[in-house]
Amino acid sequence: MSASPGPDGTPAHVAIIMDGNGRWATARGLPRSAGHRQGVEALRRTVRAAAEQGLRVLTLYSFSTENWSRPQAEVRFLLELLRRFIRTDVAELHQANVRVMIIGGRDGLETGLRAMFEEAEALTRGNTGLKLVIAFNYGSRQEIARAVQALAARVAEGLLAPAAITPELISGELDTAGLADPDLLIRTGGEQRISNFLLWQCAYTEFVFLPEYWPEFDGQSLARAIGIFRGRDRRFGGLKAQTA
Ligand code: IPE
Ligand code: IPE
Ligand code: MG
Repeated sequence: MSASPGPDGTPAHVAIIMDGNGRWATARGLPRSAGHRQGVEALRRTVRAAAEQGLRVLTLYSFSTENWSRPQAEVRFLLELLRRFIRTDVAELHQANVRVMIIGGRDGLETGLRAMFEEAEALTRGNTGLKLVIAFNYGSRQEIARAVQALAARVAEGLLAPAAITPELISGELDTAGLADPDLLIRTGGEQRISNFLLWQCAYTEFVFLPEYWPEFDGQSLARAIGIFRGRDRRFGGLKAQTA
């Protein structure tokens, strides 16, 4: 699905790889968990700033399919932070007309967590403000594999011809079905890689890599990244508008 920045060049959809919590804490002589806790504060600031700055969709990478390989205590802490965030913040997000969506694999997640996701989505389904998409247990290759399985099942039933499988049909089977592709992807923490995030959806997304750690991120950081985005020349394989 094509992206559609606003008339003033504001990206409609910003995706963020919230990275650097652990290093932020270690640099201060604190346990990694302190970085994750501050990361939640940065997340709250960023959601508010995204709405204020006129974004339509904000997608946040909160936990990858590969993050399960971390020490059990850290995984448990991250899960507890997410549970607490949903318990304490969803009502306020609902008040602010934010629609909450969760992407990523649901199979194998504990039922309590799945129920919380479903409740948050159901409560905010009718909201028309910012769409807040939280990527949890998310891996882009796994998401694509799930989409291929769904299409293959339709082929096997004789409901779909292989030649009828188009990029649009594949997009429609992804967890992000119905959302415009991200215009801008921000990664904090200095690494310049995508770490299995939105591989299909980022075909023509602009990437901005920031050295600051996620707990330091705020509305100004977001505005700065959007400023960099505005200075980019998006061509989508074509030519610049004025030379076309
Ligand atoms: C991002 O910070 C949070 C998650 C991946 C869950 P990290 O925990 O990756 O922090 P660093 O990259 O080790 O500093
Ligand atoms: C990406 O960060 C995942 C999230 C921010 C949730 P990682 O810290 O897991 O990525 P790598 O391991 O540095 O590639
Ligand atoms: Mg990291």
